[in-house]
Amino acid sequence: MLQLPNGVRHSPEYLSRSRQEALVDIIRAIVVEAPLFVPVMPGTGKPMSVRMTNCGPLGWVTDKERGYRYQPTHPVTGRPWPDMPQELLDIWSDVSGYDKPPQACLVNFYSDDARMGLHQDKDEQDLAAPVVSISLGNACLFRVGGVQRTDKSLSLRLSSGDIVVLGSAGRMCFHGVDRIYPATSTLLKNGGRINLTLRRVTL
Ligand code: SIN
Ligand code: FE2
Repeated sequence: MLQLPNGVRHSPEYLSRSRQEALVDIIRAIVVEAPLFVPVMPGTGKPMSVRMTNCGPLGWVTDKERGYRYQPTHPVTGRPWPDMPQELLDIWSDVSGYDKPPQACLVNFYSDDARMGLHQDKDEQDLAAPVVSISLGNACLFRVGGVQRTDKSLSLRLSSGDIVVLGSAGRMCFHGVDRIYPATSTLLKNGGRINLTLRRVTL
């Protein structure tokens, strides 16, 4: 058994196929209301390879001028984010061990050649709440390390329906996605991977 860092939990196959399909339908409806946008790095303006949107009262956004932040509206349409669906509130209640509900669900869409560099989730004020991450579609190679960027890291494969919780001592662990494994799931008709991260933002 792989020894994950303290506070990092991996629940393989947490969601049944039918729950995964229902979630994909929910996400499609969210994307109609709140279209995917291309996030860019603060300062450099370099685009990230994932496309993203959000649901819930707050959404995580980034642009060249104002950097990483949460805001109540979509950066392109200016409209409030779609409501947090009950299915996601239920998953949070089941796995987070946290009494307050999540305020943000970041929806990351990875094409088969997208990745995400090693980073910490640190734009939230409430660090007592865990980050709950749901994987849908093609599998990926997920890397997780310690609280220092230079700490040794380990890699695990995340498949459709898996859940990862970064909580307590694992809340500030560096993590990232090194690669997507094409054609490893039939859930998304056009391939790729969706990752949902549920977070509590304010205290
Ligand atoms: C993230 O850290 O925002 C995404 C992690 C993942 O795609 O599994
Ligand atoms: Fe993250």
